[in-house]
Amino acid sequence: MPGLYSDDRHLLEALRQAGISAEPVVWEDPHQDWAALDLCVVRSAWDYCWRRGEFLNWAARAAASTRLWNSQRLIEWNTHKGYLCDLARRNVPTVPTEVLRAGRQVAIRAAAEERGWRDIVLKAAVAQSGRYAMRATNGDWAPAQAHLDRLLPYEDMLLQPFLPSVPEAGELSLIFIEGEFTHAVRKRAAAGDFRVHDDHGGSVTLEAPNEAQLDVARRALAATGEPTLYARVDLVLDASDAPVVMEYEVVEPELFFRFSEEAVERFVEGVRKRLGTSR
Ligand SMILES: Nc1ncnc2c1ncn2[C@@H]1O[C@H](COP(=O)(O)OP(=O)(O)O)[C@@H](O)[C@H]1O
Ligand SMILES: [Mg+2]
Repeated sequence: MPGLYSDDRHLLEALRQAGISAEPVVWEDPHQDWAALDLCVVRSAWDYCWRRGEFLNWAARAAASTRLWNSQRLIEWNTHKGYLCDLARRNVPTVPTEVLRAGRQVAIRAAAEERGWRDIVLKAAVAQSGRYAMRATNGDWAPAQAHLDRLLPYEDMLLQPFLPSVPEAGELSLIFIEGEFTHAVRKRAAAGDFRVHDDHGGSVTLEAPNEAQLDVARRALAATGEPTLYARVDLVLDASDAPVVMEYEVVEPELFFRFSEEAVERFVEGVRKRLGTSR
């Protein structure tokens, strides 16, 4: 976002106060000289879901020209929600997820019933802000089949069981800066919606996580085996009320800096440390 998302301006202010010259730049700006930057940190690049290939090409160029955080490898891995299956394979509790590959023919009723799911969510595999998220319920498969027939020719989709805890309790987002937990927020959907995003009318409040939630989130961070400057883990409750990962975000998560001065300070320290290392 050219002027940065409002919450990230807390970070920009703090960086400048720390004597670091920080400017928002736009990834697809053809005039930007990436080698002129000492460090490039991805923030509100919320348009990449419409052209992931271009974004990944940019990330490769940026990584070759400057210090890029989080890493190019993590960016590539984390911009397709198929990463949830990798986390599950590494024993991180996640929302059960099936990747439906672009170009295949999928009968949604059979795909759901095969897994014992009567109530499901379909959504784009490359997504932010609930892109192409749709719920199908009570055996009313026709709208979901039409949704899939329209989108699957062009892009990968995810199939998940619908988790009723989401409209009831929302999601808990745990923020980690430099691998350390700093704060968590509860995101709740507006009445009548199942998408928690504030751009769909949802609300956000600070909340302290319990040990079980912290443990699942830490396992997600540990599973990639790579350091992160920033990470966010979104947790929901599964059918047996256990916390599971809905998203692990290391590309462009909102970090809710407005709720935590500690997160801002830790981030500034993380930037300072990276500026002092060799490329
Ligand atoms: N399996 C699910 N059960 C219930 N709600 C879901 C499910 N999957 C997604 N949602 C709702 O849709 C929103 C968007 O899905 P999510 O996977 O978080 O993608 P993104 O936020 O990147 O668009 C979630 O925040 C949640 O509110
Ligand atoms: Mg989400």
